[in-house]
Amino acid sequence: MKNILVTGGAGFIGSNFVHHMLAKYPDYHIVVYDKLTYAANLNNLRDVSQDPRFAFVQGDICDKEKVAETIRGYDIDTIVNFAAESHVDRSIMNPDAFIQTDVYGTYVLLEAARQFGLERYHQISTDEVYGHIPHGHASVETDPVRPRSPYAASKASADLMVHAYFITYGLPVTITRGGNNIGPYQYPEKVVPLFVTNALEGKPLPVYGDGRQMRDYQWVGDHCEAIDLVLHRGELGEIYNVGTGEEMENLRMVEILLDELGASPDLIHFVEDRPGHDRRYALNVEKIKALGWRPKHTPEQAIRRTVRWYVENEWWWRPIKEGEFREYYQKQYGQRKVLKVGL
Ligand code: NAD
Ligand code: DAU
Repeated sequence: MKNILVTGGAGFIGSNFVHHMLAKYPDYHIVVYDKLTYAANLNNLRDVSQDPRFAFVQGDICDKEKVAETIRGYDIDTIVNFAAESHVDRSIMNPDAFIQTDVYGTYVLLEAARQFGLERYHQISTDEVYGHIPHGHASVETDPVRPRSPYAASKASADLMVHAYFITYGLPVTITRGGNNIGPYQYPEKVVPLFVTNALEGKPLPVYGDGRQMRDYQWVGDHCEAIDLVLHRGELGEIYNVGTGEEMENLRMVEILLDELGASPDLIHFVEDRPGHDRRYALNVEKIKALGWRPKHTPEQAIRRTVRWYVENEWWWRPIKEGEFREYYQKQYGQRKVLKVGL
């Protein structure tokens, strides 16, 4: 493994992964292949753009010819696929791009990996494929997938196709299913960066429903270390859950975030819930721990560190909140009924 194609590497987790890999492996070359959708940002790769081991190609994973040309041109031996439409609320508004990129795009990459006889295809998946998890259970990798949003269904479909390529063609694949990542370079449509930046702007924090939904908030760098480990030590054809194993209510996350900022709970606005909102995700992470991985941050540490990053990096998020984001925000939140203000 020397020449890695990181699809979606100009997005949040992908760009963190690129930083991690270039810092850790002096003899690896990384090619980021990214369509540059609204969620991408070349500022995420600013620090590595001059590194001779790094290259960037603008392209769509649904474009077979461009994918093939890139694999050939850079002598790629490994694909790590982060490219996806990734926001649940956008998938509810319009699922089309999710089916195109997350399902068809994954198929294009798998087919290219098969045709070029690549050493490894790694799929970045999500705990959302398991659907809502009742109290008393934590998802294990052998659980059935029960996705409930168009986003989750598109990701589950991709996982099934990855597995089919392993069984049918013997393609050397691995899959990781991560909980909610937080940290540097996350587009501020996702809850933690949205709430920190809104609070810094003195705007309300729109908490969906009663705010008692549970998520496993993990530091993005911990997730990247787990992906690295699976690439090097994971068993082919296997799935690995990646999270802290500690889920937290959204309201608790908001309390920590406000505390770190020294901001008032009056900023909280309880608003109409997300349709089909999964109440709880919970991951059993024993399998990845057995490979030797441990998260270095608890959810609380991850939230506090993330808040500090956004406080210190206004240069990164301010321009984003001026552009496409405004139109999206108006569509998503403009008509939403406010149920209660403050705690
Ligand atoms: P993101 O939205 O920040 O970035 C996605 C990137 O993919 C962007 O750079 C975008 O331009 C690129 N992209 C989209 N469509 C493309 C296409 N057709 N061709 C090429 N590039 C395309 O997403 P993220 O939060 O970094 O998530 C990355 C991956 O991790 C996704 O597969 C997501 O499902 C998965 N995941 C995310 C989380 C999370 O908490 N964010 C958790 C678990 C898994
Ligand atoms: O669990 C992994 C998944 O985490 C990833 O696969 C997805 O790509 C990623 O977007 C994320 O999905 P969520 O839907 O959990 O993330 P989001 O940040 O959108 O929401 C987190 C929780 O916060 C969820 O319970 C909904 C709630 N929420 C979200 C927003 C945007 C609010 O209460 N208000 C909001 O405005």
